[in-house]
Amino acid sequence: MVEIGCFLGGSSRHWLNAKPDLELIGVDPWNGNWAEYVEGMSTHPTMSRHVEHLSDRELERIVGLLREYGNYPVALNNLRAYKDRFYPLRLSSPEALYYLHRRKICPDLIYIDAFKHEIDLQIAHHLFPDAILCGDDWLWPDETGKFVMQDVVKNFAHEQGFEVEAKRQSWVLHRR
Ligand SMILES: C[S@@+](CC[C@H](N)C(=O)[O-])C[C@H]1O[C@@H](n2cnc3c(N)ncnc32)[C@H](O)[C@@H]1O
Repeated sequence: MVEIGCFLGGSSRHWLNAKPDLELIGVDPWNGNWAEYVEGMSTHPTMSRHVEHLSDRELERIVGLLREYGNYPVALNNLRAYKDRFYPLRLSSPEALYYLHRRKICPDLIYIDAFKHEIDLQIAHHLFPDAILCGDDWLWPDETGKFVMQDVVKNFAHEQGFEVEAKRQSWVLHRR
C-alpha cells in the first residue's frame, strides 16, 4: 500500500495495525514545521475534531516535540514499532509516484490524503492502472462549503469510467 499524505502517522498506524502483514510506503515531504499548525487545531472550527481525544497537556507535548525535533523525526518516531513494514518516502506526489514506478515498485492500493489535486489520481492511475485508488476527505468542505475532494474524485471517475463508493469521509473507486 502507498499512502499519500501521512502527516504524523496516525492513519499509517491504523493501516499497519489493521493488517499485520501490510507493507506501507508513506509518502509525504514532511516540509516546514507543524508546531504552530497543531497548536491552532484545538481552537479551529473544523480541525478541532482531530485533536479532541487529546488533553491540553498531551497537545502541548506534541507541539513541543515538533518544535524541538521537526515533523519528520516525530512522524518516524510515531511509527518506530513498524519500522520493518513502514517505508517513508520523503517526496511530494506525483513525483513520488514516478519514483516508485522507476524503481518498479507497484502498489496494490494507493490511499490519497493530501491536498486534493486531481493530478494525484491521474498519475496514480496512469502509472499503476491495476492499483485500487481510494482516499479520505469526501466530506471535507473548503471555506465556501464546497466538497472539493468529491468534485475531484467524481470528475476523475467520470473521465476514466470508474464508479465511486463513498462512506463518511472515505471513498474508493471501482472499475465499471
Ligand atoms: C491531512 S494530512 C494527512 C493526515 C494523515 N493521513 C492522517 O490521517 O493521519 C495531509 C498531509 O499531506 C501532505 N501532503 C500535501 N501535499 C502532498 C503531496 N503532494 N504529496 C504527498 N504528501 C502531501 C502534507 O504534508 C500533510 O502531511
